[in-house]
Amino acid sequence: MMSVSAIRAAFPALDRELIFLENAGGSQLPRVVINAMSDYMTNSYVQLGAPYEVSRRATAVVDDAHAWATTLMGGTGAGQTAIGPSTTQLVTMLADCYRRVWQPGDEVIICETAHEANAGPWAKLEREGINVRTWRVDPTTAQCDLEELRRMLSRGTRLVAFPHVSNLLGEVVDVAAITKLAHQYGARVMVDGVAYAPHLAVQAREWDVDWYVFSNYKVFGPHAAMLYGRHDAWAELEGPNHFFIPRDQVYKFELGGANHESCAGILALADYFRELTSAPAAPADEFLVTQAFDTIRTIEQSLTSQLVNGLKGIPGIRIIGPQGAEGRVGTVSFLHESVSPPAICQATDTAGVAIRFGHMYAYRLCQALGIPLETGVVRASLVHYNSHEDIDRLLDVVEAAVRT
Ligand SMILES: Cc1ncc(COP(=O)(O)O)c(C=O)c1O
Repeated sequence: MMSVSAIRAAFPALDRELIFLENAGGSQLPRVVINAMSDYMTNSYVQLGAPYEVSRRATAVVDDAHAWATTLMGGTGAGQTAIGPSTTQLVTMLADCYRRVWQPGDEVIICETAHEANAGPWAKLEREGINVRTWRVDPTTAQCDLEELRRMLSRGTRLVAFPHVSNLLGEVVDVAAITKLAHQYGARVMVDGVAYAPHLAVQAREWDVDWYVFSNYKVFGPHAAMLYGRHDAWAELEGPNHFFIPRDQVYKFELGGANHESCAGILALADYFRELTSAPAAPADEFLVTQAFDTIRTIEQSLTSQLVNGLKGIPGIRIIGPQGAEGRVGTVSFLHESVSPPAICQATDTAGVAIRFGHMYAYRLCQALGIPLETGVVRASLVHYNSHEDIDRLLDVVEAAVRT
C-alpha cells in the first residue's frame, strides 16, 4: 500500500498550501489522469471511426473507456454504461426516455434525502400525468424507513429513485435491500451513487440494480459522469441520439457522443489504482477496482472517525446524519447552536481550509429537516488523500470559530 505522502504526491493540486476538504463537491486529479488527457489531446485528438491510424487509436480509447466504466460499476456481464457530461444530464436524459414509455397514472417514487439531480427530473414527469410520490425522511433520525417504502409500493410503481449516500448526510443505505423490495413490485431502481463512488466499490451486478449513476469528477477523474444500466433496462428504452443509430447501442443515449479527452482520463483511473495497490501489471478488471477501494476504505476509516469524533467534541456542534463513523462515508455536515454556517466558513477560508456551506442541492431534505435554505449546513468532506493533519487543522479552526 502507498504511504500517505506518496498518495498525496500523486495529486499535483495537493502541493499547494490549501487544505482541501471539499471533496464531495469534486475531487482532485492524480497526475496519471491529467497526463492521459493531455496526451490524448496532443496525440489522438481526431474524430472516431475514420480509416487512419490516429483515428483507430482515438476510437479504441473511447471504446475502452466504456468497457472500463462498466468494470468500475461492477457490472461486467450484466449491463453497459453510458458516459455523459454530468449526473444531472444523464438522469434528465433517462427520465425523458421513460416519459415516452410510461402511461399517465404510472407511478415513480423519489426520495426526500436525494440530491435534486435524482429527484427533479422524475418529479417533472408529473406534468405528463405520472404520479410522483415522495419517500419521506424521518426528521428525527434523518433516515428513510424501508417499511414506509414497502407501504408506498404498488404494481403501478415503475421506478424508485434514491441516493446510495446522501451528499449531505453521508450515510450509506442498503441498496440491495431497497432494490430487492422494489423488484418484488416490478419497479426498477435508479440509484444515485455520486456521494458513494469516491469511497467504496460499486457492485451493480451484485446488488442487481437497474440503473446506477455517478460523476467522475468526484472520483478522481474529469468533469464527466457515467450511467450504468442492466441490459434489459436499456432495452426498454429508445435513446435520444439520431434515428439511424441502432437503439441497442449505448451511443444512442449519448447525444453527440462522450467527451473524448474525458474518456482518456476515465481510462487512466486504472493506472492510478495500479499505483495505489502497488500492482503495476494488474489488468483493469473488477478485482483491481475492489483492491483499490479496499485500500481507500482502510485509509478513510480512521480519517472519518477523527473527523466525526473531533466535531462531536466541540461544544455546541451538532452533526446532521449518522453520529458515529460506522455506516457512513467521510462527508460530514454539521451546525453550531449559535454560530452560522457562513461565519464558520469565513473562518475556515481565512485559515486556508476549503469546505463549504449551503443546502448542497439536497433542497428537499433541508426543507424536511427544518434547516434554513439560505445558510444550510457546514459540510466537510474527505477522501483517502487527506491526512490526519488536514482534519486536525479543520477541527482547530472550527473550534476557534465557535468559541465564545
Ligand atoms: C449525490 C449527488 N448527486 C448528484 C450530483 C450532481 O452531479 P453532477 O454535477 O454530475 O450533475 C451531486 C453533485 O454534487 C451529488 O453530490
